[in-house]
Amino acid sequence: MAQKKLLRFAQIKDFNNVHEYPAGMQGEWRTYFKNNNPVILELACGRGEYTVGLATLYPNKNFIGVDIKGNRMYIGAKKALDNKLTNAAFLRTQIEKITDYFSPGEVDEIWITFPDPQLRISKAKKRLTHPRFLRLYQQVLKSDGIIHLKTDSPDLYDFTKLVAAKYDLQIIKDDANIYTDKIITPELNIKTHYESLDIAQSNTIHYLQFILPVKIKNEDDALQQLLQKNIEADLA
Ligand SMILES: C[S@@+](CC[C@H](N)C(=O)[O-])C[C@H]1O[C@@H](n2cnc3c(N)ncnc32)[C@H](O)[C@@H]1O
Repeated sequence: MAQKKLLRFAQIKDFNNVHEYPAGMQGEWRTYFKNNNPVILELACGRGEYTVGLATLYPNKNFIGVDIKGNRMYIGAKKALDNKLTNAAFLRTQIEKITDYFSPGEVDEIWITFPDPQLRISKAKKRLTHPRFLRLYQQVLKSDGIIHLKTDSPDLYDFTKLVAAKYDLQIIKDDANIYTDKIITPELNIKTHYESLDIAQSNTIHYLQFILPVKIKNEDDALQQLLQKNIEADLA
């Protein structure tokens, strides 16, 4: 591992706003923040631009960036400390383990910012808007809690809309290109590292805002078959 990466991994251990696989935090986040304000997650936060940006915009809400990569998280956590943002924190864990760290209904809202699109059909279950993940989010999110997806991947955007249609998600906002000539909200204007990389080379940023149904159906095998069929139709 490169020296800088190792150094950052060591440094976050001393940051009081970084929690690595913490024990006993389930149901305790408001106590940690010392207020009763809403708790909002940024999943796949990377360098935590949304965690820091939203915490700056909304001092009366608490923000937690979640990611597995400590060296990326270091950048956001350091910025939050330097800017004395007491309403921003970071949780280092796999998103698959999210239910270990939050109690039912403890989370008010979720942002998913530029998650890996996992383009191969065989990896579809790793997409952060796959029903497998939505079921986990549902266990910690309050009912009617909003989920935001911001992505440069047209594939992930289309996939999430397909999931929305098949699993009865309620789409509140659907913007195929947020940077068309109109005024956008300050939160959508926050730019992340991956947004600036434009890996999909689409020069287009998609945004979806949705609410989960009361119960998320289990039709994941049918979803997988549909994805396979769509691919075969595209190749024919
Ligand atoms: C493409 S980067 C986006 C980072 C940041 N949101 C941005 O826009 O710059 C995706 C991030 O998701 C994280 N990630 C992917 N799958 C994860 C998982 N299952 N659990 C935790 N983190 C995950 C990666 O470590 C990586 O930092």
